[in-house]
Amino acid sequence: MNLNNNRIKIITVLALMIPFLLLSSISEAQRKTGRGATAGSTNEALFKGIENEVVLPMLRHLPQQYGGRNVPAADGRFLYDLILENGYTRGLEIGTSNGYSGLWIGLALKQNGGELVTIEIDPRAADEARDNFAKAELDDVIEVITADALEGIPNVPGTFDFVFIDAHKPEYYDYFRLIRDRMKTGGAITAHNVTGRDRSMANFEEAIQNDPGLDTEIFSRHTMSVSLVKDE
Ligand SMILES: C[S@@+](CC[C@H](N)C(=O)[O-])C[C@H]1O[C@@H](n2cnc3c(N)ncnc32)[C@H](O)[C@@H]1O
Repeated sequence: MNLNNNRIKIITVLALMIPFLLLSSISEAQRKTGRGATAGSTNEALFKGIENEVVLPMLRHLPQQYGGRNVPAADGRFLYDLILENGYTRGLEIGTSNGYSGLWIGLALKQNGGELVTIEIDPRAADEARDNFAKAELDDVIEVITADALEGIPNVPGTFDFVFIDAHKPEYYDYFRLIRDRMKTGGAITAHNVTGRDRSMANFEEAIQNDPGLDTEIFSRHTMSVSLVKDE
């Protein structure tokens, strides 16, 4: 009788533990792979070292409010690290949108004592970016120009050691032609959505791969090309 009771108790306890064990092993797997994260619970490592209480929530949440046109946080962080590691100080961004990638780029350039010019064709998006940069206290280092980049780039004076292209894909090659000879040695021309599969930007991809003065690498995880300007 007692033996049977004990068996029933053990079976009941085991049955109750199964869902708990299953749930905890799933969440451990999700933690390791980063999958299953809900919007806003992005991998904390992406924001390491960024402690500003105003900027941090913007970096975490702005893309979710903007219908997927912003770079993912991981790509913003990639650019941020690239700028810090290389000490870049004069940046140009083509395709501002609401300023999300500009926040990452501007934060890094500010730490290097540098500045960013960013060009956006859509006046509403440009205004939104200006508001976001002001809120993040980056308006002293970021200038937003409302213009078609093809007309705006020639009006921006000086040279650049960092360029980020993220506007109209069929125009990537034209933006590239406008900035190529204005790059400093050691500088980086970066471009988003470079996959090698989009025919509309094939001329750009060929140009960065075949230019003897550039050392180009494609970071497929970020769909990003990085072309470093060689010392010639
Ligand atoms: C993918 S969104 C940029 C996203 C932004 N880099 C980010 O991650 O936050 C592309 C932007 O390029 C702008 N754009 C398209 N063609 C342009 C041009 N010729 N000159 C300037 N901006 C342009 C669009 O209006 C749009 O806001």
